[in-house]
Amino acid sequence: MVMLASIDKIYREKFNGEPLLVRSPGRVNIIGEHTDYNEGFVLPGAIDKAIYVAIGKREDAMIHLYSVDFKESHEVAISAMKPTKTWATYILGVASQLLQRGHAVGGFNLVIDGDVPLGAGLSSSAAVECATVFALNELFSLGIDKMEMVKIAQKAEHSYAGVMCGIMDQFASMFGKEGSVIKLDCRSLDFEYIPLKLDGYKLVLLNTNVKHSLASSEYNVRRLQCEQGVAWVKEKYEQVNSLRDVSIPMLDECVLGKDPVIYKRCRFIVEEIKRLNDACDALEMGDLKTLGQKMYETHDGLSNDYEVSCKELDYLVDAVRSEPAVLGARMMGGGFGGCTINIVQEDAIDDLAAKLKETYKKDMQLDLSVHTVVIGEGTAIQKLPGSIHFNQ
Ligand code: GLA
Repeated sequence: MVMLASIDKIYREKFNGEPLLVRSPGRVNIIGEHTDYNEGFVLPGAIDKAIYVAIGKREDAMIHLYSVDFKESHEVAISAMKPTKTWATYILGVASQLLQRGHAVGGFNLVIDGDVPLGAGLSSSAAVECATVFALNELFSLGIDKMEMVKIAQKAEHSYAGVMCGIMDQFASMFGKEGSVIKLDCRSLDFEYIPLKLDGYKLVLLNTNVKHSLASSEYNVRRLQCEQGVAWVKEKYEQVNSLRDVSIPMLDECVLGKDPVIYKRCRFIVEEIKRLNDACDALEMGDLKTLGQKMYETHDGLSNDYEVSCKELDYLVDAVRSEPAVLGARMMGGGFGGCTINIVQEDAIDDLAAKLKETYKKDMQLDLSVHTVVIGEGTAIQKLPGSIHFNQ
């Protein structure tokens, strides 16, 4: 509420009007990594850390943006919008996608702030995109449904940030539900909410506080490697359209002899899609131990076969492997930095955090940040207590 009140105030001071307020959260993913762009499944949830925007219409055809975090403004005419290398690109990317689709977006003012740690693999960029598309949809009464908004947000990331991401992050931010993770079928886009019952345990994020520059370039390379694998399998098995349709014997037959690296990448994805389904069964049966084991297996695959981990992430997963209070741990998100996600016994969190902070500092010469997260609601309009909103 503090952040909401503060962006409301900043908006009024800067732009002299009453803003519409929107909140859109970051996300975690329990299991199912790099499976979204391979038409597999993912199991994300929205978190209690979010991006907030305050937005209002302008009379002219200008976009005026202000980031509280960066203490920076960005002003551009709608007709002159183009990608930037700054925070503004995610907002402009969304506006540009809406215009390209023929939606009547006029000039607007927008103030942005948030408490999603940036570059931590918690999808702060997807949260910005979802907050923006939701806010513009409301402000200009565009009548776009949530699934379409997710696709627009994803496309903004492709075209303005240059990362060919899957749909998971934007989906989780938009459709998050308190207390539940979402099993999303990334082929049909069907989804179900699964209550995350962690009795006595909590989700703990350990932030490496590094983001290696490889992150976006290697992400796009992995995507291409998966596509190449599919193309080779398809030469023999015409019905195959994605790694979702592929089995390990097919990979042995069609990919192994051609390129062992591409084979490893594809094998990881095929295994990860199966692992996610097993993990969901375990979660639904309350078998957290098995779920945790699957998380460790995912980490090992991401590190050894998909090769998107880094020494800091590996360090943090290895550091908890023999801790009885930790049921499972793995790197989360695209890779090359950011956070590990851990299932940790509630009473043991403080001691574990203190111990890891010390050893991480000593061995990696880096500070470790520890966040306990709660699964929260997805993108929504916010109201300050006592305010009467113009769109009510
Ligand atoms: C990033 C992308 C997602 C997904 C993950 C890996 O977060 O934005 O679409 O591919 O990496 O699972």
